[in-house]
Amino acid sequence: MNRAREGADKPHPGTLVQLRIVKTFYIETFGCQMNVHDSEKVIGTLVGQGYSQVETPEEAELVFYNTCSIRDKAEQKVFSRLQQFKKEHGKGKTFAVLGCVAQQEGEKIFEKAPHVSLVCGSASYNRLPEMLVQLETGNRRVTGLSLDTEDTFETPMTRRDNPHRAYITIIEGCDKSCAYCVVPFTRGPERSRTSASVIREAEELARSGYTEIQLLGQNVNSYRDPSPAAWDFAMLLDQVGRVPGIRRVRFTTSHPRDFGKEIIDVIDANPALCNHVHLPVQSGSSRMLASMGRLYTREEYMRRIAWMKAARRPIAITTDVIVGFPGETESDFEATLGLLDEVGYDSVFSFKYSRRPNTPALALDDQIPEEEKSRRLAILQEHQRQIQIRRNAEYLGCVEECMVEGFNKATGQWIGRTAQHKTLNFLRPASEPEGDSDLTGKYLDVRVTRAGPNSLAGEAVH
Ligand code: 5AD
Ligand code: SF4
Repeated sequence: MNRAREGADKPHPGTLVQLRIVKTFYIETFGCQMNVHDSEKVIGTLVGQGYSQVETPEEAELVFYNTCSIRDKAEQKVFSRLQQFKKEHGKGKTFAVLGCVAQQEGEKIFEKAPHVSLVCGSASYNRLPEMLVQLETGNRRVTGLSLDTEDTFETPMTRRDNPHRAYITIIEGCDKSCAYCVVPFTRGPERSRTSASVIREAEELARSGYTEIQLLGQNVNSYRDPSPAAWDFAMLLDQVGRVPGIRRVRFTTSHPRDFGKEIIDVIDANPALCNHVHLPVQSGSSRMLASMGRLYTREEYMRRIAWMKAARRPIAITTDVIVGFPGETESDFEATLGLLDEVGYDSVFSFKYSRRPNTPALALDDQIPEEEKSRRLAILQEHQRQIQIRRNAEYLGCVEECMVEGFNKATGQWIGRTAQHKTLNFLRPASEPEGDSDLTGKYLDVRVTRAGPNSLAGEAVH
């Protein structure tokens, strides 16, 4: 019997007992877009099994946390959530930990949080229906922790919340071994989907009204079509951009080593492909890059940047940086600041190095003290802020096409997103009354009239 039903009110003797067949679940997601999209597929799977989603953990019989372990802070979040709802266990709830912390910690989670009943990493999501049956038949400890799979997680049903932009996973796992990174341990080896199934999904999305697609993978550049068609990533990207009805295609994330010039060539040739590349550099010092096991030098990275700068369409470039990796000297750090200037990034995600279980960097000497990491991070972020102020000012007076993402009641502005992934907040022209028509999901041309470090503002043009 489902434990979740045990605590239900006892029926009055003699009354007709009606079995409650709809089981409720709540899911909270931490981490990257891969996780967000995994949750959409997990929700589709659960709904397909007859479960119904609720908005709060209090209302739910099954509580899922889809977790991230990329940095220590992300990992701590799930344990604090589990502590928070520990008391709920007595009320007959079932707790499940999915995702990267599940894979990394495995059965240790049952020790740390004995009220958890299911621990399942992303490489085992295909087995979720059968694991749910095990839970329902009273099994208190269900695990899905094998990484030994050649499958990708494809669901007949996916619950997407955004009606205009949809994610499609094209490759799962990661075959690189960056010294700081848990992902190869939490998501397993690389598995690519067939090009036919990706194109089919894009066509279905276009038919149901989606206009923007974001292709996802830990390393989309290593996409290799397992079918005889044998497309590479550039070919797949181009073909997704040719699906009728799809106006914008984005992709994330790229590894510089596998990033070929043909990707820039297809972006140049196909206007549906967004002119934005996220290319994580991590450090501007070749010495640090070698120690991180990144498989490229600063010069090789800059060659990719040169391809982008030589493109016919202006390409926005964003990156990820880690400060305070073991052994990082002041001069290594300055090399990173210099690289930010040289590239002139549109945006940078920057992080303090965080020691992660199982990773090769744990063995490195010369850990950088926490205060020093914080100091470098603050300097880097201020440095980049100044770069963004200059970069964004270049857009003043330009007209940019925006996809409308929503309306900000507080400012009275519509929130738009340019092809380059910049936020462009705008008003309708003064001559046009606001009316009550919803612009969300529409594409409008907007003239940029103001520029800040993190966003642009403007006015829609006729
Ligand atoms: N510490 C700090 N940042 C990390 N990242 C990955 N692993 C770590 C770590 N151990 C950052 C990298 C990566 C981004 C997703 O997270 O910059 O590109
Ligand atoms: Fe976090 Fe990395 Fe897992 Fe994404 S793949 S959820 S970023 S640990």
